[in-house]
Amino acid sequence: EVIDGTGRILLPGFVDLHTHLREPGREDTETIESGSAAAALGGYTAVFAMANTSPVADSVVVTDHVWRRGREVGLVDVYPVGAVTVGLAGKQLAEMGTMAAGEARVRMFSDDGHCVHDPLIMRRALEYANSLGVLIAQHAEEPRLTQGAVAHEGPTASRLGLAGWPRAAEESIVARDALLARDAGARVHICHASTAGTVELLKWAKGQGISITAEVTPHHLLLDDSRLETYDAVNKVNPPLREASDAAALRQALAEGIVDCVATDHAPHAEQDKCCEFAAARPGMLGLETALSIIVQTMVRPGLLDWRGVARVMSENPARIAGLDDQGRPLEVGEPANLVLIDPEATWTVRATELASISENTPYEAMTLPARVTATFLRGTVTARDGRTAGRVGR
Ligand code: DOR
Ligand code: ZN
Ligand code: ZN
Repeated sequence: EVIDGTGRILLPGFVDLHTHLREPGREDTETIESGSAAAALGGYTAVFAMANTSPVADSVVVTDHVWRRGREVGLVDVYPVGAVTVGLAGKQLAEMGTMAAGEARVRMFSDDGHCVHDPLIMRRALEYANSLGVLIAQHAEEPRLTQGAVAHEGPTASRLGLAGWPRAAEESIVARDALLARDAGARVHICHASTAGTVELLKWAKGQGISITAEVTPHHLLLDDSRLETYDAVNKVNPPLREASDAAALRQALAEGIVDCVATDHAPHAEQDKCCEFAAARPGMLGLETALSIIVQTMVRPGLLDWRGVARVMSENPARIAGLDDQGRPLEVGEPANLVLIDPEATWTVRATELASISENTPYEAMTLPARVTATFLRGTVTARDGRTAGRVGR
């Protein structure tokens, strides 16, 4: 089959360092199958599946199960993220070495959803990870500053009567972990950077030669807390949507390389967990199928990134951070490749019911967005084509 690429953009397949696939445990909200379909349709050829499943991915049994199920589905490479501590936010380090040596060869560990809070545990985790050559990704949230918090601490939350989540809850952990990484001579990755202050800290830490990297989500680039006026819980997410000035600082930081990459924090939730009162709703929003369009809208259209830059922040940098050695190197002619073909002129209107995710918690409902994936290629197999999943690797 020949695919006509006239007028299209061809990039290396996207790599998402931060996806919640909900299997095992909450298959009513997403499965490895449905999440893989969403990823392929979004132009992704690799996703890192977060460890806050049920049971938690804190053992090689779970991480290898997720890996095998991803291979069986064959739409995207599913790399399990292992938990740093037993049971998440625990006091005991998980067997990272065993997970790293398993079939899945786990290379990234995170207690996402919780902060690895205790500084001594974090210090030991960084030392252990360093000795294994794997990466710790930190959900930066000082829990003693976010007790009961549901929205960004600021004028909007005060007016709406919502308990505030201060910027310092994130920034204090970013600063602390930069210093712990420095002392351990280890690498650390900051999940979902959300404040202008975090950008300043990253700039400082990188200037000191500290091995720190960071991701930003599409929703923190586009949306801000003015969305909360309606009390619609679809806008509830951790870390919370911040102020417009934070979003602007994050866009600038992504353009300048201070923030290294885009990660979706794709977080499917059931209707009943999102339709309740704002304070009671679960945090998180869908992201895989809309990420490219949000990046084009926030970064490409305003001239902050060109298409080469999109490849850098959505494919090359995340692949490098996670230590994927099968991406980002020059390919031989004829070698099966991970690619995404994009129609930059297309527009489409987001309809939750038409997304491949089982859940429908997209904050972009009814928005008309630029750019669409024409085809995704996983090792040469077309996994998505014109809005539908297609072939599967290994079948
Ligand atoms: O909004 C979020 N949702 N933030 C997290 O840290 C966890 C995630 C989830 O698992 O739903
Ligand atoms: Zn998180
Ligand atoms: Zn997350």
